[in-house]
Amino acid sequence: MTFDPKPFAARRARLAEQLRSAGGGVAVIPTAPERVRNRDSDYPYRHDSYFHYLTGFTEPEAVLVLIAGEAETKSILFCRAKHEEREVWDGFRYGPAAAGERIGADEAWPNEELAERLPKLLGDQPALWYSLGHDSGWDARIMEALNSVRASVRSGIAAPADIRDVRVPLDEMRIFKDASEIALMRRAAEITAAAHRRAMQATRPGRMEYEIEAELLHEFRRSGSQFPAYTSIVAGGTNACVLHYNDNNQLLRDGELLLIDAGCELDSYAADITRTFPVNGRFEGAAREVYALVLAAQKAAIAACHIGSNFNSPHDAAVQILAQGMLDLKLLSGSLDEVIETGAFRRFYMHRTSHWLGLDVHDAGEYKHMGRWRDLEPGMVLTIEPGCYIRPADDVPEAFWNIGVRIEDDVLITANRPDVLTSAAPKCIKDIEACMAEAQG
Ligand code: GLY
Ligand code: MN
Ligand code: MN
Repeated sequence: MTFDPKPFAARRARLAEQLRSAGGGVAVIPTAPERVRNRDSDYPYRHDSYFHYLTGFTEPEAVLVLIAGEAETKSILFCRAKHEEREVWDGFRYGPAAAGERIGADEAWPNEELAERLPKLLGDQPALWYSLGHDSGWDARIMEALNSVRASVRSGIAAPADIRDVRVPLDEMRIFKDASEIALMRRAAEITAAAHRRAMQATRPGRMEYEIEAELLHEFRRSGSQFPAYTSIVAGGTNACVLHYNDNNQLLRDGELLLIDAGCELDSYAADITRTFPVNGRFEGAAREVYALVLAAQKAAIAACHIGSNFNSPHDAAVQILAQGMLDLKLLSGSLDEVIETGAFRRFYMHRTSHWLGLDVHDAGEYKHMGRWRDLEPGMVLTIEPGCYIRPADDVPEAFWNIGVRIEDDVLITANRPDVLTSAAPKCIKDIEACMAEAQG
């Protein structure tokens, strides 16, 4: 896809507007550092999400300086200079001239100029907007620049009186996805749904969890996704009761379920899908009952994803159904109100139902505002992921021991019905059985 700088420029303009309305100043937003994995090997590079949100620039060692002056907004990019020899070893780098043009910056400079230019850019600004405490290396550079401005006080130049957290306005912006973000998230969701279908079709007794993980990764990468958005969970049988299981190294057995929580990252945007299905392709007995319960809870939670609801409404809807089901299945005893009020249901459903989704799998943005759950509004994207995890215990019917089920979709709030971005991943019992039978038949 050709790079379109317009959405990024529009976000810089909106951020500048927000900063102006809070008194203006200069924002400094660095990208992420490269990280060593061991000796000469680095982790695959992943840019900083805030920096990317405002630039679309994916090279390491870059920083955006955004000046929100009274009358004008200015974007200044600092990045790596062109370097013929390094490019032979590490590949192409834009260099300031081409990078600045690509992202539509007003100015672009090589990093070597930052130490000298930053104090001048900070001078006489009312505030510095910066994510203090996020990266100690950058904190030190910023303090050095501020001290250098302070040292010129006798020339009549003042240092910013305030240091404010630029993540506060950015987090609020990131909650509401624009059209280009929604298009990317829809595509990330489609690729991830295809990967889950592929995983269902590759699963059978005798395979290893990692063989199924390989199917997911193959589908992600062949479709242009750069990375998995998080470490895939491929959890057969009892492993599904470990919420963050990712050893993915056990045998898949007849009669057990397989829980897969996996999503791709496409052009920086995450998808996050969980499906749970039988290793042998047929939902039976207690596993079928627990699956039907979690599915009913998930559908009720999705139905609560509309204007007029708040962030907690889907969770409440899921808990109502799950708690009643736990009573019906004799996992718990008492009344529905008791089981909910005392939190007894948490023994089998110990996590929450949703998180924001976007550039980060657990995306930026407040969940509560002034102590109240946020209202759901068009443009927000959240996951809906209820589950039920049953560990062996004397007071639990044995047929249910070691069953773990989670079902997770990604939902865009619209003015009308919830838009389930991940609906192409089968989830009804008959759709999953049909998908698996196609491969086995
Ligand atoms: N895959 C991470 C989550 O579901 O929250
Ligand atoms: Mn999730
Ligand atoms: Mn997930």
